[in-house]
Amino acid sequence: MAGIEGFAPNLFVGKTVFVTGGGSGINLGIAKSFARLGAKVAICGRTRERLDGAAKEIEALGAKVFTHVADVRQPQAVQEAIDATRAALGPIHVLVCGAAGNFLCRAEDMSPNGFKTVVDIDLIGSFNASRAAFNQLKETKGIILYISAGMAYMPYAFQVHVGAAKAGIEQLMQNLALEWGKYGIRSCSIVPGPIEGTEGMKRLADPKSLAERLSHIPLSRMGTVDEIGAAAVFLASPMAAYITGAQLIVDGGSGLIGSAFFNVGAEAVLRSGA
Ligand code: NAP
Ligand code: COA
Repeated sequence: MAGIEGFAPNLFVGKTVFVTGGGSGINLGIAKSFARLGAKVAICGRTRERLDGAAKEIEALGAKVFTHVADVRQPQAVQEAIDATRAALGPIHVLVCGAAGNFLCRAEDMSPNGFKTVVDIDLIGSFNASRAAFNQLKETKGIILYISAGMAYMPYAFQVHVGAAKAGIEQLMQNLALEWGKYGIRSCSIVPGPIEGTEGMKRLADPKSLAERLSHIPLSRMGTVDEIGAAAVFLASPMAAYITGAQLIVDGGSGLIGSAFFNVGAEAVLRSGA
């Protein structure tokens, strides 16, 4: 629960939060942080069973939950999920674009479709959700939170697809802050560092060299999903009412040390054939 104890427990009562890819990991952590502060929560993803499991966890916190199977690459499916959320929970105040795909792959081994798939999920999917939620966010004077990554501003080895997608997300975030500010809509991104217990870490980090890599990070540890949830709650709260177009880096200082330690570990993962 790190981080949200300082927020008023009823901060998001009456508000609806929609999280793409909210069925697991960091995005589920964000959904739960809002639920703990009274929000109604909608999550979408491709897998019914995953959404059902996540819904149980969110409901256990006392929140009203709505789930909808939708692939963010399909604009019509996303629009249906967003419209159905309004019918079930009321208009959306906070849209979290967190759905993403990732795998380690050397650029020379990457197929065009592999590259396109990640750009489609992360970048195009984020636009699809933002566009679909525009009318509701205009009505509520809401906020969009994009879940970015360090790859957006620094090259990481074997992440050419993710770097392109996340850098695009940062530009999308700032463009919408610029264009939709006049409607009262804010737009920000969160850049998580390595977050413990997540699919991203499972896929990208070399378990053998992780401890050494972490020892070089200024705060010397991984972050938690709750710490990313706290950042999301802050940005969506009235405390951040004058913040838009901003990137909030929540990485324990990982971005300050470059990507070299990650790159060495990633090389080892690829060599091991895992
Ligand atoms: P995760 O648990 O795999 O989360 C990704 C979610 O997106 C899953 O619930 C997945 O569910 C959903 N998803 C994937 N493709 C989708 C699609 N086409 N349409 C709709 N939903 C889709 O991974 P995570 O590690 O927590 O990552 C969450 C976010 O944090 C991502 O944006 C990632 O880039 C970012 N991030 C993670 C880390 C880290 O340390 N883990 C660091 C920096 C940034 P289904 O497969 O059921 O659809
Ligand atoms: N290395 C190289 N290429 C890969 C790959 C890997 N590990 N995994 C998938 N690809 C390529 C496939 O070969 C395919 O390209 P091709 O048609 O030229 O062969 C392309 O990517 C699409 O693969 P597919 O399995 O059809 O995609 P999908 O839409 O079913 O799944 C992924 C999307 C690949 C991103 C999948 O890993 C996923 O669903 N990820 C979600 C969870 C996740 O990544 N979480 C971490 C977030 S940080």
